[in-house]
Amino acid sequence: MPARIAVLASGGGSNLGALLDHLDAAGARRAGQVVLVASNVAGAGALDRARARGIATAVADPADGDALAALLAPADLVLLAGYLKLVPPIVARAFRGRMLNVHPALLPAFGGPGMYGRRVHAAVLAAGARVTGATVHFVDEAYDRGAIAAQWPVPVHAADTPDTLARRVLRVEHLLLPRVVTAVASGRIALGPDGRAHGAPEPAAYAAAGDDASLAAAFDAAFAR
Ligand code: GRF
Repeated sequence: MPARIAVLASGGGSNLGALLDHLDAAGARRAGQVVLVASNVAGAGALDRARARGIATAVADPADGDALAALLAPADLVLLAGYLKLVPPIVARAFRGRMLNVHPALLPAFGGPGMYGRRVHAAVLAAGARVTGATVHFVDEAYDRGAIAAQWPVPVHAADTPDTLARRVLRVEHLLLPRVVTAVASGRIALGPDGRAHGAPEPAAYAAAGDDASLAAAFDAAFAR
């Protein structure tokens, strides 16, 4: 029985789209099924993506923790895919080990309150970092602090701007996130009693010049079990 997945998103939802495509491609072998997409923004593109696929949607006030907890209660797994609000503690506690977030940098660097979107990549460039990447982590009561489930490196090029770097990182997010969600939904990656995530593969060397097929193959090799 596929895990019931609820997604919270505030923006366009390209990560949601990548997850939906990955689960569709898995067909009957899918480890999860997105059953709800909720947003704090009534006009969020992520809600349009959900409606286009016949998935239930909701607009939820992040300030009302009890209502959000009730809305998410039927879900086995909750995914923050570009959700810009702090998850109320009652919800973070209810979904300990069952809530994931994707962040466009290698946490704990370049994370925390106010670090989202273009700002992250501008900070990476301002710091002169040579490598950035994507992180998927379990969510706790603070922004971007929970146990890291998986990461993937992305090289920073000398000519990069925040926008060129964002595009390169987003491509990796779209490959990493669905595989981590699948691994958590199937129990291969889990939050241990020690408060650390277990089961994630070691990221292979980044195929920077690779085309999408070779990059996807590198991800599949890394996540193959
Ligand atoms: C992504 O870069 C994600 O890492 C961050 O917010 C962005 C969401 O983009 N949390 P999208 O809405 O999935 O296109």
